[in-house]
Amino acid sequence: MFESLNRQPADKILALMAAYRDDAREGKIDLGVGVYKDASGRTPVMRAVKAAEQRLVETQETKAYTGLAGDPAFAAALTRLVLGDSVDEDRIAAIATPGGTGACRQGFELIRLANPEVTLHASDPTWPNHLSILKFMGMTQKPYRYFDSATGGIDFEGMLEDLGAAQANDVVLLHGCCHNPTGANLTVEQIDQVIAVMQQRGLVPMIDIAYQGFGDGLEADAAVTRRVAKAFDNVLIAASCSKNFGIYRERTGLLIAVSKTADEASLAQDNMNFLNRQNYSFPPDHGARVVTLILEDPEWRADWEAELEDVRLGMLDLRTRLADELRRLTGSDRFDFVARHRGMFSRLGLAPEQVKRLRAEHAVYMVGDSRINIAGLNTDTVPVLAQAIVDVL
Ligand code: LMR
Repeated sequence: MFESLNRQPADKILALMAAYRDDAREGKIDLGVGVYKDASGRTPVMRAVKAAEQRLVETQETKAYTGLAGDPAFAAALTRLVLGDSVDEDRIAAIATPGGTGACRQGFELIRLANPEVTLHASDPTWPNHLSILKFMGMTQKPYRYFDSATGGIDFEGMLEDLGAAQANDVVLLHGCCHNPTGANLTVEQIDQVIAVMQQRGLVPMIDIAYQGFGDGLEADAAVTRRVAKAFDNVLIAASCSKNFGIYRERTGLLIAVSKTADEASLAQDNMNFLNRQNYSFPPDHGARVVTLILEDPEWRADWEAELEDVRLGMLDLRTRLADELRRLTGSDRFDFVARHRGMFSRLGLAPEQVKRLRAEHAVYMVGDSRINIAGLNTDTVPVLAQAIVDVL
């Protein structure tokens, strides 16, 4: 029966990972997949994660199933990290999910259950897997203007115009912070205008927040999500611990649904538990428990926050260095946006041909749309990349 299958389109980011691995050249530079790397190219296990895992090994007495929604303590701790006290607890339903991708998928599933006719509006561009999952699920999707490649900033007029033309009850997918793939983010003032247009049109927000702590800090990065959560009766939030806790392979995420009333929240929770049961029964627990231990222990939490802050500041430093070097080499401010962008990614605005040449002639790997992972650099490779970019311009 499997002979009737068609080959699936390769995921561009994962294909890039494989191509980089297979490249035997010395000095190759990996700016592909969104995984943090330190200056020596390692993706370390964070100190607090090690400590919490150690304690789990020593004290955990059972591996019996958790509830369908996962450990309630995890949901409470992560919801607090993301939402602060912006929404009353009795309006919140949540399920643990396998990573942020799992949270996105379950969020889309919940939206479809509630409104099969829905159209999802996603930024142009967005994380390619958003669109791939929506397409696979057969859900209707529409891009809204977002990135202005001429300036490296946001086409805000275009965004408001497109959202202003959406139909009531449509869902708008927003990035909570550190927009993937562009690195260009809405200011708090801009999000207030987006909220006003969405309220006028009767639209429902869904927020993907996968990089909290990588942009302007843990609290600042939650500002957009909290403002949106406060402003609407219904909000979906897909949160990931992959990046800010560095526990990528543990698959640790949370889908949060904000409802108008406690009764509606209970209905949402019932359906979310059902969706977990249909898809994989119980969500993974190890990473969730590690995160909970860290968030609940003041010492570990402080240490985690300090290490995360070092990661964030290191990426900011690399941004400044790259922007400075490109300014020096090009004699122009064309790439200054790299320093203004936040998070792991920047889209450089290079043509696909130039991206290909960077790979072929300089062993520099970036996604085909010229997205770079800033954490793939170090102070030695910044000038190498800058020179390579100038060579292909
Ligand atoms: C990325 O965008 O590179 C990350 O979110 C990893 C992934 O799964 O694509």
